[in-house]
Amino acid sequence: MAILKKWINSDSPDVFIISGDMTAGPEKSLNLLNQLQMDCPQTKLLFVHGNHDVYHEDSMLGYETLLQFPGNLGNGPVELNEDWVVIGDGGWYDYTFGIDGFSTEEFSLGKYNDFTWPDKTYAHWPKSDQDETNRYLEKIEGWLIDYQGKNIIMVSHFVPFSQFVIKKNDPSWDFFNAMMGSSRFGELALKYGVEKYIFGHIHTRYHEFYNGIEVICNPLGYYPHEWNSANAEKEIFSGIKVLEI
Ligand SMILES: [Fe+2]
Repeated sequence: MAILKKWINSDSPDVFIISGDMTAGPEKSLNLLNQLQMDCPQTKLLFVHGNHDVYHEDSMLGYETLLQFPGNLGNGPVELNEDWVVIGDGGWYDYTFGIDGFSTEEFSLGKYNDFTWPDKTYAHWPKSDQDETNRYLEKIEGWLIDYQGKNIIMVSHFVPFSQFVIKKNDPSWDFFNAMMGSSRFGELALKYGVEKYIFGHIHTRYHEFYNGIEVICNPLGYYPHEWNSANAEKEIFSGIKVLEI
């Protein structure tokens, strides 16, 4: 957090977007977001939740707790200026990236061999994964309709295009791709012609144009095996992208 504050306060961007998975619990994430925003008053902090942020016995309550953060995009679109608007929410997954040969029920149990997808243990939504994903899709589409004709930056935690889901031809990995996101977020982005799409969740960095959309995923991976540098400042700074609009 100190390193993040150092970067934000020295670079002083107008807006800083975090695409989820700050901590493993809504209260902890909310506290850190509030702290960061208080310590960096010149920058507007925007946030969408990840799966870890809603680890709670009642994930809907966790989701609502996180809405207390004013920069949570789940509260509604944020206009950057007359032309640009940021629209998004954390989202969820509906198995559209799942591999063939498994049923919806198997994906919903989230178990392959002796590994259970952690969300199945730590996140507790009132409805099925697909219903929860639909809730996000409807909400986001409503906002996209409201802002048609503007330059839109769309943000979700989960992956919008299968292009960015890593396939290893190993079912012990590929089975869990079902929990990576939903192609329907990508369909919305294409339908409403968003300019840029920022997401998280996966631990591989991407910055490229895909179907005319500038797609950015720039996570900070698990320490130490996913880090490129032994130096925390260097690694954290490398996980930050600067966009000019
Ligand atoms: Fe995640």
